[in-house]
Amino acid sequence: MDVNEKIKHIEQQIESAVADVKSSKSLQEIKMRFLGKTGEISSLMKNMRDVPPEQRPSLGKLLNALRQWTEEKLDNLESGLKEIELKRKYAEEKIDVTVPARDFPDGAYHPNTLIRNELVSIFAGMGFEIFEGPEIENDYYNFTALNTPKDHPARDMQDTFYLAEDLLLRTQTSAGQIRVMENKKPPIKILSPGKVYRSDDDATHSPMFSQMEGLVVDRGITLCDLKGMLDEFAKKIFGENVKTRLRPSYFPFTEPSVEVDVSCFECGGKGCRLCKGTGWIEVLGAGMVNRRVLEGCGINPDEYTGFAFGMGIERIAMLKYGINNMKLLFEGDTRFLKQFKD
Ligand code: PHE
Repeated sequence: MDVNEKIKHIEQQIESAVADVKSSKSLQEIKMRFLGKTGEISSLMKNMRDVPPEQRPSLGKLLNALRQWTEEKLDNLESGLKEIELKRKYAEEKIDVTVPARDFPDGAYHPNTLIRNELVSIFAGMGFEIFEGPEIENDYYNFTALNTPKDHPARDMQDTFYLAEDLLLRTQTSAGQIRVMENKKPPIKILSPGKVYRSDDDATHSPMFSQMEGLVVDRGITLCDLKGMLDEFAKKIFGENVKTRLRPSYFPFTEPSVEVDVSCFECGGKGCRLCKGTGWIEVLGAGMVNRRVLEGCGINPDEYTGFAFGMGIERIAMLKYGINNMKLLFEGDTRFLKQFKD
C-alpha cells in the first residue's frame, strides 16, 4: 500500500468509527486510536524516516493535513456529544420547584415537660440546683435512710416494685435527698425531678409517674421558710391570687409533716367541681427533715435544720391544664398532645 492509499484507508476507518459513536467516552477511545502517541497517524509519521528525503516535505504536508482533519472532526464531534450529554443530565436532574413542599407537622412539648420546665425555672430562680438520682435504688436509700425500716407500717403507703431482695424501682424522689446529704455539707438547696414507680393504676394513678423533690438544709431553717417559699411557688405556677395552707400529715422522714393545699384557682375558693366543693386543692407533701434522717447522713441536727417537699408532676399538669384522666399523659396520642403549645 503506498502512502496515499494508507491515508485514504485511515480516513475511511475514522469515518466508520465515528459513524456509530454514541458517547464522549467511546470517542475518547477513537482519539487514542488515531491521534495517540502510538496511534495510527503517529506511526505513519514515524515511517517518514524510510522515505527518500526529497519526498519528505510533500508527505509531511499530507500527514499534517490528515492529523488536522482528524483533530477537527473528532473535536467537533466531541463538543456535540458533550452538549447532548449535558442536556440529558439536566433533564434527569431537573427539580420541579412548583411541587408543593412535604408537610412537616409541628412538634409540641409534652405537658409533663412543660410543667417540669416551669417548675425547674421557678425553683432555679430561687437558687435551687438540680440533682438527678438513679431510678433503680436499694432499700436503704428509698426507705431505711428515710426513717422507714423494714417492718415500718409506712412502707404500705407505697406499693413497691422489687427487682431483687435489696433492689427496687424507687417509689419516691426522696431517695435522692439521702444521696445529696451524704455527699454535701450544708448549705444544701437542691431540686430533684425524676420518674418514680408504684404498683398503682387508675384514672389518677399510674405505675410510672414523675415527681419533683426539693430539699433545703442550713442553719436556722424553719417551717416559716417552707411556707414562704411555697406561697411564692403557688403564685408563680397557679396565679397571683392563689393562697396556700398547710394541713398536718405524716411522712416518716419529715417531722412535722404537712400536706400543702392551694386555694382553688378555678373558682377562687368558692367551691367548684375541680376542688370538689372545698375551695382547696391538695398539691404536695412536705415537712421539716426528721432529725433522725439528718443524723443518719452525718449532719448534726442540733446545728442544722431543713425542709423537704415532693410533688407529682402529672398531678400538677392535670390540675393546671384541666386533664381528667392521667392515662392521656402516657398514651402519646398526638391529637391530645398537639394542644399543648408553649
Ligand atoms: N416522698 C413523699 C411522697 O412521695 C412526698 C414528700 C417529699 C413528703 C418530701 C415530704 C417531704 O409521697
